[in-house]
Amino acid sequence: MFATVLWSASLLFAAPASLSAAETVWLSELDLTMFRQSWGEAQRDRSVTGKTLSIAGQAYERGVGTHARSVVWLDLVGGSERFLAVVGVDDATTSDSASLAFQIAGDGRKLWDSGVLRRGQPAKTVDLEVRGVRSLMLLVTDAGDGVSYDHANWAQARFLVSGARPRTVPAPVEDVVILTPKPGPAPRINSPRVTGCRPGNPFLFRIPAQGERPMTFTANPLPAGLTLDADTGILRGTAPARGEYVVNLSARNRHGTAQSTLRIVAGDTLALTPTMGWNHWYTHYDRITDRLMREAADVMVSSGMADVGYQYVSIDDCWMNAAKHADPLRVGPHRDAEGNLLPNKHFPDMNALTEHIHRLGLKAGTYISPGPRTCAGFAGSWQHEARDARQFADWGFDLLKYDWCSYGEIAAKDPDPELVKFKKPYVLMGRLLQEQPRDIVLNLCQYGMGDVWKWGAEVGGHSWRTAGDLGFELDRIFEVALQNAEHRDWQRPGAWNDPDYIQIGYIGNAHGMGQPRPCPLTPSEQYSFMSLWCLMASPLFFSGDMGRLDEFTVNVLCNPELIEVNQDPLGQCGRVVPLADETFAMVKDLADGSKAVGLFNRGEFPATVTATWPALGFEGRYRTRDLWRQQDVGFRQESLAAPVARRGGAVFRLWRAE
Ligand code: GAL
Repeated sequence: MFATVLWSASLLFAAPASLSAAETVWLSELDLTMFRQSWGEAQRDRSVTGKTLSIAGQAYERGVGTHARSVVWLDLVGGSERFLAVVGVDDATTSDSASLAFQIAGDGRKLWDSGVLRRGQPAKTVDLEVRGVRSLMLLVTDAGDGVSYDHANWAQARFLVSGARPRTVPAPVEDVVILTPKPGPAPRINSPRVTGCRPGNPFLFRIPAQGERPMTFTANPLPAGLTLDADTGILRGTAPARGEYVVNLSARNRHGTAQSTLRIVAGDTLALTPTMGWNHWYTHYDRITDRLMREAADVMVSSGMADVGYQYVSIDDCWMNAAKHADPLRVGPHRDAEGNLLPNKHFPDMNALTEHIHRLGLKAGTYISPGPRTCAGFAGSWQHEARDARQFADWGFDLLKYDWCSYGEIAAKDPDPELVKFKKPYVLMGRLLQEQPRDIVLNLCQYGMGDVWKWGAEVGGHSWRTAGDLGFELDRIFEVALQNAEHRDWQRPGAWNDPDYIQIGYIGNAHGMGQPRPCPLTPSEQYSFMSLWCLMASPLFFSGDMGRLDEFTVNVLCNPELIEVNQDPLGQCGRVVPLADETFAMVKDLADGSKAVGLFNRGEFPATVTATWPALGFEGRYRTRDLWRQQDVGFRQESLAAPVARRGGAVFRLWRAE
């Protein structure tokens, strides 16, 4: 079906007569590893899937095959005169929904825009003067409908060069700016201000408070069965009878006293605010040990994370035995003669580990699959569910992540309708956990199958992943967030949509379970990540290296005013308000009647993002505070605007003023 004649080098556009360019430099001759793209790798003179480049039936000999969203930066070193190319959707893409927009920017200004191009549409020709331009950026966006099937060709892309040759370069390095003010020495009690528990079960709550230690805490009136350690602010004991208890808290040190309240709701619902903590997966993968878990718990306290509400210290996969593994200490029988799960040799004593975590006032999380094996090939719970639920409670765990993994093998043989099969393992584990004499929060991990947000709560889940592993698509945090926010109506206290962990600081590449290294996101992207997760009331689990927390990472993770938005008792997920081209707002109603508003810029250029009152559905005058900077910024009426860096975000809180 494609033209057999290749659009070859001999068919080059004739260079304008005035041009003295001596040389043609093909984009595909340059270092293509500099392309950042959402799927696959940039291909030299081939499409992203390795086929002949082809647009609307026309084949091309040279060019770069890439995939939206795709960005590459070039340093033209002052030597290039023109940039020429033909661009479009590659014919090999299998869906009619493929649509793209190609954009070119020079020294921070947009120079060219293809508009939306779809599969089968003729290529667009680029013939752009770039004399005097130093930094060139070639961008392919998904044209607003997601990146699926978006195979993009920069066909016949080349520079006419009269001096130095262009080269591809890493994206410009952004300044690392710390926005969160350092906590002062005076006490400050932070969120959460409400906690759920089941009557009669063990109760544990560490009052999150910043400020210089020593500090003395009070909590009055305390429901019967609970005691407070006045030096640490840790409440322990047995959860009271069904009911709501409002406890007045104070924290005092030599700089002053802070007061707050904690509402303890003894009933059926746990996780009344989004769960917060740390999970080992994206740092330690199949290298996790008891020592690393204890270190994470210690750092959660020493870094100040626990003082802003982080609480769960969670093991992910690979703590059990596998039949095969490179590390012999992780190989062994899955279970003992009675059928009890056997942790591998890196976990000599699970009770001692959870005790270490609990002593700090923190909670312990664990992980398994309902299938015969976990995703990494370790022991699963299949046909041992009741025993395992009991075991997790006996070991002292407070949270279980239940990951579908090999359960697909079981489901494949099950004649029941699909939705019943999706629910089945979670109905079972949900019930078993509720039967334990311990509060165990259940996180469903099955990547959103069967619209899990519609039934996750009904099967006993407290949160559910709405998509696959974010570690595989870190460059798509905006898209993943926007997709997650589509399920906002299903979210409420005790029932949270989970778009996966916060991956900043030192993390290992999910492709290949790499050793931790600085995360590839820019500082602005990291602020956007945290801002979006707070506005969506998503579970906040950091998954970077606790042993290598740097000042910037702590600043992103530990802004109590942002976290207060996340932990707001209404539990609302922000609503998305599309603004211009690549900008949008996210608006979240808060329990005190105020609103949190995020202004985001998904684009590659800094932009002033403006949200008008009609767009936001606001009326009147609002006292406004910049939450990242923790600064009042006066009053706003009619609109809210902020300069926002490329791929950045700003978050404000607005209180109606009369
Ligand atoms: C995946 C899951 C990840 C991680 C991993 C462990 O299925 O989505 O979050 O738990 O398994 O093997």
